[in-house]
Amino acid sequence: MKITTCIFDLDGVIVDTAKYHYLAWKRLAKEKFNKDFSIHDNEQLKGVSRVESLNILLRICNEDVPEKEKQQLTDLKNKWYVEYIKRITPDEILPGVLKFLEDVKNKKLYMALASASKNARLLLERIGLTYLFDCIVDGTVVTRAKPDPEVFLKCAEELGVEPQGCVVFEDAIAGIEAAHAGQMFAVGVGDKHILYKADMVISSFKEIVIDNVVNLPKTKKNE
Ligand code: G6P
Ligand code: MG
Repeated sequence: MKITTCIFDLDGVIVDTAKYHYLAWKRLAKEKFNKDFSIHDNEQLKGVSRVESLNILLRICNEDVPEKEKQQLTDLKNKWYVEYIKRITPDEILPGVLKFLEDVKNKKLYMALASASKNARLLLERIGLTYLFDCIVDGTVVTRAKPDPEVFLKCAEELGVEPQGCVVFEDAIAGIEAAHAGQMFAVGVGDKHILYKADMVISSFKEIVIDNVVNLPKTKKNE
């Protein structure tokens, strides 16, 4: 099927906020439980909602807290995270992204943003890219976290396109799985050893041109 739509994750794909999420979770683990939270552990939190991220972190740290305290912990993590990202500027857009987004636009493909983050619109505004997207689905409207395909399927529905013609760009294992669960193509952005389930992996957008995306139907892995 012909590719009609490119769906982009935000954190770790368009802008490197993954490192700020990591710093905030690591700080929470240290200050609240005196536990070390490694960059390797952090892979499991990428693309996952705030509250589910806390549950995973608690499991990794071998800690448990009453349900009512979880809200305080996620609020604290978000407070630190928002402090870290307050100073983000368009300079932090990842290499090759702007050029690639412009190519997608010129090719007349739809462009959607699909993020589990409740801070997604704020971030997009800060980096000045809101105007490029035909559709934005973020953590304020999604009820099921990746690897559930909800966030991506909502984009397809809003745009009125078939999921099979959508390509998802993701830095998270859960995001690759979510794309495939939604019958979409998945391009991994990051380490090919971590994102090996993707139909194609790039380490940065400098490595890809729009024609690679249009040709993806020949290389689909999940069929
Ligand atoms: C993104 C990140 C996750 C983060 C989630 C929620 O998907 O990859 O690490 O937990 O968004 O973000 P939020 O800004 O709402 O806490
Ligand atoms: Mg991400």
